[in-house]
Amino acid sequence: MSISDTIKSRRSVRKYTDREIDNESVEAILEAARWAPSGLNNQPWRFIVIRNQAVKEKLSDLTHYKNIMTESKLAIAVFYNTADGYNRDKDLMSIGAAIQNMLLKAHDLGLGAVWLGEILNQKEKVSEILLPGEKNELVAVVAFGYGNEKSPGTDKRKEISEILIKYI
Ligand SMILES: Cc1cc2nc3c(=O)[nH]c(=O)nc-3n(C[C@H](O)[C@H](O)[C@H](O)COP(=O)(O)O)c2cc1C
Repeated sequence: MSISDTIKSRRSVRKYTDREIDNESVEAILEAARWAPSGLNNQPWRFIVIRNQAVKEKLSDLTHYKNIMTESKLAIAVFYNTADGYNRDKDLMSIGAAIQNMLLKAHDLGLGAVWLGEILNQKEKVSEILLPGEKNELVAVVAFGYGNEKSPGTDKRKEISEILIKYI
């Protein structure tokens, strides 16, 4: 797929088959995250890879998106390492870029994925379960699995005319 096709055809996938995700795919997703840009190249992202079903079940009690969490084959919790940070806004944008790289790589591998932000409402409780260590603050959880939906996600996008303030 061309980069444009990969970007345009990616959609959030929230239902998954029973097919397992191999370790090579997990490595490839982390590798994609690693190459994201970051301010001062500070790479403030950290990850916990969750395959354990019991842990996913515990996390599922902390989000409205319970089924996504329990049915996913893999979840990656993404953290902001504040010790490596230099500017909160810029650091979080860098981590967003890393997450987008993960979503695009997953799509490239034929996997489905969804960025879960709502779980941040319970970020302290998530950290009590995942124990990421001090200075690692939860930013998102990304759920992965082979997609079980025909045409998931939404095609709705604002037109360029709606988002472009002006050409100067
Ligand atoms: C910061 C952020 C938080 C999100 N949180 C959730 C979430 O908690 N649950 C969910 O199902 N989708 C979540 N999404 C996915 C969006 O709903 C989705 O990206 C958007 O509707 C566009 O659809 P698409 O990804 O299929 O193109 C989140 C996306 C982003 C970028």
